[in-house]
Amino acid sequence: MPTLPDTNATSTIVILDFGSQYTQLIARRIREFNVFSVVLPCTTPLDTILALQPKGIVLSGGPSSVYDADAPKADPAILQAGLPILGICYGLQFITHHLGGKVVPAAAREYGHAEVEVTDPALIFHGLPKRLEVWMSHGDHAETLAPGFRVTARTANAVAGIADESRRMWAVQFHPEVVHTKHGMALLKNFAVTICGATQDWTPAHFITSTIAKIRAQVGETGHAICGLSGGVDSSVAAVLVARAIGDRLTCIFVNNGVLRKDEFEKVQKTMREGLGLNVVAVDSSARFLAKLAGVTDPEQKRKAIGNEFIAVFDDEAKKIFEAEQSSGEEVAWLVQGTLYPDVIESASVHGPSHVIKSHHNVGGLPADMKLKLIEPLRDLFKDEVRRIGRDLRMPEEILERQPFPGPGLAVRILGEVTPDRVAILQEADAICVEEIKRAGLYSKVWQSFAVLLPIKTVGVMGDQRTYAYTCAIRAVESEDGMTADWAALPYDVLRTISSRIVSEVRGINRVVYDITSKPPGTIEWE
Ligand code: XMP
Repeated sequence: MPTLPDTNATSTIVILDFGSQYTQLIARRIREFNVFSVVLPCTTPLDTILALQPKGIVLSGGPSSVYDADAPKADPAILQAGLPILGICYGLQFITHHLGGKVVPAAAREYGHAEVEVTDPALIFHGLPKRLEVWMSHGDHAETLAPGFRVTARTANAVAGIADESRRMWAVQFHPEVVHTKHGMALLKNFAVTICGATQDWTPAHFITSTIAKIRAQVGETGHAICGLSGGVDSSVAAVLVARAIGDRLTCIFVNNGVLRKDEFEKVQKTMREGLGLNVVAVDSSARFLAKLAGVTDPEQKRKAIGNEFIAVFDDEAKKIFEAEQSSGEEVAWLVQGTLYPDVIESASVHGPSHVIKSHHNVGGLPADMKLKLIEPLRDLFKDEVRRIGRDLRMPEEILERQPFPGPGLAVRILGEVTPDRVAILQEADAICVEEIKRAGLYSKVWQSFAVLLPIKTVGVMGDQRTYAYTCAIRAVESEDGMTADWAALPYDVLRTISSRIVSEVRGINRVVYDITSKPPGTIEWE
């Protein structure tokens, strides 16, 4: 049984996930016009869906064929529930198959850009042009429609839209949620707002007020909570929301693992305390971490060493806070985590309904006697929504715009052994890279931009001196979500400035190269 998201909004659109890679996008697009939407596995029982009092249901796409024996199953009773339904791709085929039509392999598979002609106006096409540029991804098509349905749109090869307005059912073969489908948002809005009558009240202000009230009710008048801060967007926004609810009864723990960026340990503390008024325990454990990293060159071993040490430090600190509160008759009962909605959906997917929080979100290993309960104020949100909430909370842009930074920090950007000297060299080079990218106004336009220290020394010449020093690689990528990425075509003058500043200002580096590898086949980080 899935954990149901807590709907703070008055209207909900339920999206049933048949396994498409685009399902999360449907939820994001609908939320972009301020209608709350949740993704549930297609196997969710009808009663559970109805308990959310949805205004309408979207049936997502999916990689299977409806006629396959192992096709993902939804309860066909959802088609009789009387709620407006929008089928997308597999969703269209699901409706057709279960209501008496016929779905067969298409003669011509349609994948990528396609042109659709709206042949018979239907409510979901209201205000849209007659010819639509869309994104297709299907190998099956509806050969015979279910009784009561009519064709509303076509491509040259296949049925692209169907409707039975008397039963309040609409379906399209293409993907309105994908940016390549022009007017896709308008189509989704026609469904959610015009047809389903959902109210557009999923706003940051609404979310903030109701989340704070909920946390207050959960934690009560005396409960205490702890939160691990990374300095990044998610943990900071989660902490600020909880602090608004319970004030000083939240203690944040910020650990220096020795592989943070230049001056970050001090800067983050200052912002968190002075800028955000958070109660922060800052622990400088660099020596402990660097000792564990000595002699380690394998990337996964580095991650393990840092992960284990983090848990040990966090446990020590949490225990201290726990014992201090206990001796004053109070109790720390809550742990705040910045888990986001994509992690929640991923862990309740169509095929594997196990609930696993990504390892870097999970501080794990906390002493069992503390029995901490989780507060996850962001578990209904996507990353861009977290930023919107942060803006409404008047948090500094500097935090909200921060590029993702891996938990194991600079350790996975120092190839070979991580030594204090190498950390210091990379911190300087990285600081110059970030400074110049910011100066060029590119920092929030690229997904990540950073320097990598290679364990390779090359010969150079400075003044009349021969040098023999490390090579540094600059990596800058554009991406939507970090899953795929393109190397960023940074302007030559920006690259030139970064290179000449690093070589002249950072002792230990005499050569700079630029990484022009996309993901796949490369990864974003070098380790
Ligand atoms: P890759 O290198 O796999 O990175 O293309 C994808 C995204 O994940 C980040 N990343 C990590 N984040 N712990 C983290 O918290 C890690 O061990 C880790 N490794 C990679 C990376 O910065 C990029 O945003």
